Amino acid sequence: MHATPRHFLMCRPTYFAVEYAINPWMDPARPVDRELALAQWTRLRQTYLELGHTVDEIEPLPGLPDMVFAANGATVIDGQALAVQFREPQRADEAPAYRGWLEQAGFVVHDAKYVNEGEGDLLLAGDFVLAGTGFRTSHAAHARVQEVFGRPVITLQLVDPCFYHLDTALCVLDERTIAYLPEAFSPGSQAVLRRLFPDAILADLPDAAAFGLNAVSDGHHVVLPVQAAGLISTLRARGYHPIGVDLSELRKAGGGPKCCTLELRGAGR
Ligand code: ARG
Repeated sequence: MHATPRHFLMCRPTYFAVEYAINPWMDPARPVDRELALAQWTRLRQTYLELGHTVDEIEPLPGLPDMVFAANGATVIDGQALAVQFREPQRADEAPAYRGWLEQAGFVVHDAKYVNEGEGDLLLAGDFVLAGTGFRTSHAAHARVQEVFGRPVITLQLVDPCFYHLDTALCVLDERTIAYLPEAFSPGSQAVLRRLFPDAILADLPDAAAFGLNAVSDGHHVVLPVQAAGLISTLRARGYHPIGVDLSELRKAGGGPKCCTLELRGAGR
């Protein structure tokens, strides 16, 4: 379990708000403290820098309150980027913004063609891409992912609307190890996960509800919500170095550390 330096893209929550509800965590009637969101996000960015990772920033756009969730902006593997197509119209205009950023950074960008919400539902685990469907990313997009990246795609059915993106229910810790919430998946998908990852860490509902699985691992350090106390101690016992961060304001939109973080794998220009 050794750390490797990562390259991330993030989007400052300048225009962050909860103005509509497209997942069960969002309640537009509940106030959001944007200053606090910004401070929490800045701390997350600083944590990555202190770990030796590179963080690029995309310019936030007014009128796109969920643009802070950069994981939904694309999927980038081996310098190839798959553009996204959001399911919800409220987020549609984020797609061309992320695409434009990746193009100017020198990444080859492939058209989405089907609804896919980027790394929210598409997680690289060793040679495989684990692909969620059921709420956002369409099943048709999974075949597209396999063609674009030339890596086997494992379809996983999400069944709980609270865990509507794969990255809220499953976290890749290193090339061979994942952590996940079993009951967020259909029985068949649970069997697939047991077969592929017999040594996985199984999370419980309180940790998952704290967005503990919405974690960012560099292979050794795991950045996750400080509220996920059980998962933090399990990670430590398994030899990882968990680092707790507080993203309570962003959780009001149904997001956590991983949602705010798009990994750029392979060189652009
Ligand atoms: N409010 C956003 C949505 O529902 C949150 C996105 C969270 N992103 C993620 N990668 N899970 O689309």
